[in-house]
Amino acid sequence: MNFKKELAAILHELLNQEIPESQLEILIEKPKNAEHGDLAFPCFSLAKLKRKSPNVIAQELKLQIQSETFEKVEVVGGYINIFLNKKLVSEKLINKVIAEKGQFADLDFGKGGTITIDMSSPNIAKPFSMGHLRSTVIGNALALITEKCGYKPFKINHLGDWGTQFGKLITAYKLWGDAKKVKQNPIKELLALYIKFHEEAEKDPALEDQGRSWFKELENGNEEALTLWQWFRDESLKEFSRIYELMNVGFDSFAGEAFYNDKMERIVNLLEQKQLLVESDQALVVDLSEEQLPPCLIKKSDGATLYATRDLAAALYRKENYHFDQSLYVVGHEQSLHFKQLIEVLKKMGYEWAEKMVHVPFGMMLKDGKKMSTRKGKVVLLEEVLNESIAMAKHNIEEKNPNLLNKDQVAKKVGVGAVIFHDLKNNRMNDIEFSLEEMLRFEGETGPYVQYTFARACSILRKADYKADALPLSLTNTWEKEWKTASLLLDFAPAIKRACENHDPSLVAKYIIDLAQAFNKYYAEVKILEENENLTARLALVYSVTVVLQEGLRLLGIEAPEEM
Ligand code: ARG
Repeated sequence: MNFKKELAAILHELLNQEIPESQLEILIEKPKNAEHGDLAFPCFSLAKLKRKSPNVIAQELKLQIQSETFEKVEVVGGYINIFLNKKLVSEKLINKVIAEKGQFADLDFGKGGTITIDMSSPNIAKPFSMGHLRSTVIGNALALITEKCGYKPFKINHLGDWGTQFGKLITAYKLWGDAKKVKQNPIKELLALYIKFHEEAEKDPALEDQGRSWFKELENGNEEALTLWQWFRDESLKEFSRIYELMNVGFDSFAGEAFYNDKMERIVNLLEQKQLLVESDQALVVDLSEEQLPPCLIKKSDGATLYATRDLAAALYRKENYHFDQSLYVVGHEQSLHFKQLIEVLKKMGYEWAEKMVHVPFGMMLKDGKKMSTRKGKVVLLEEVLNESIAMAKHNIEEKNPNLLNKDQVAKKVGVGAVIFHDLKNNRMNDIEFSLEEMLRFEGETGPYVQYTFARACSILRKADYKADALPLSLTNTWEKEWKTASLLLDFAPAIKRACENHDPSLVAKYIIDLAQAFNKYYAEVKILEENENLTARLALVYSVTVVLQEGLRLLGIEAPEEM
């Protein structure tokens, strides 16, 4: 249901087919002000071709545009303003929602294509940071949005599970570790050991050598080292899994950095064959001065491979095994240089598909304007944050709706949804200020606000005992107040498409805020349940709003409770 296209087709004919339809379609706008109609076509670019003023062209076209889809046509200063036929368009739209339900606004332009999404990717034995939270939330939404557009998303958790820090950790564990404590509270204990290692190493530098030699053992496959490493990894992952479960996020692969241990030699050989490796400070690097970037480090003097080497191996592995059409990396903007280098090195190797790799960066999470990594010297544990948010949501529910059944379930959906929505409502490049109070408000642009709107609409439908098959509609002229909400249903699919193309879930979040606001305004103005001829149609509109709000929230990874 694309009325821009319909208008473009009419204009195409009226302009003697001189301008391609697609070009006309691009020119058509949605007026900011509803008084200027639903669609606007600026005639300025036609002036040269027609040798007439834009205003005269607009006047002439106005007289000729005839279609039952367009109820009124006006000319204002070189623009043709078009008013859609409210009755006809609403009927079509609402009927479509009733017929398609959750599949409403499904798109197919991505059909058959695979998109790998490198997301979350926390580091073993370290706390799950706010940056990892952002990556998880944005990556998960992008998976859902790209899937809605017909793509097959493949979510990869590129765990930070290898590197010299594991040598240090093994050393520290062997000196001071306690298996029971690690089992109980893995990340906290392992982090404490890691910190202790650094404190002690300042007094006794020999510890550093021990750490290095344990890492060598690990790289050489020493059984004791490997067993400890595997155990640290398993325990950390168990803890991360609790967070993923709370947030309802799953992965298709947990192939982390260690997975590429046996796949890097090939990369080094390929680089050598292609004569791309040069020596610099006893290390092997790829020179990127032509690309105006610093050299990309491939191998250190002691033979150890690096983050970039692993990512080169991972990129190749993903291309060969998943045949991606796009490969996204949802990682904070601090790593922009790394991904630029990665893509340039692959291009130098002759891989055209490197063009299809996209770094999807995002801003920082701030607390009182500062980077949010510590709180009173302690690390902010994400699980604590989520649980705190759930507890606050529960408190709000106790106050507002003490008789609600399943309070805990609802509190979880609201508490977690609030954190996710807060993250996704702004353009991802913006830094965001972390505030639980703000996130959990029922008014303003929050997750609970949208969820609450959904629940309110559901309650109207319950009261009316509405069944979604109540067709056909019969609208009368009093459909003016409904129009804003009804016409917004038209914008859902375009918002999804743009979110997919720009890798920006905030476009979906903003859309559902607009819809929720329009609906609440309508709800305040109109007695929806009043018996009269439009009752069925009004209920069908309310139903359509529930379908779209629920689906919009789902695309962000947020659940919508029917009561709250
Ligand atoms: N583990 C890394 C970090 O915490 C993020 C990894 C991102 N993904 C990648 N393929 N490099 O900074």
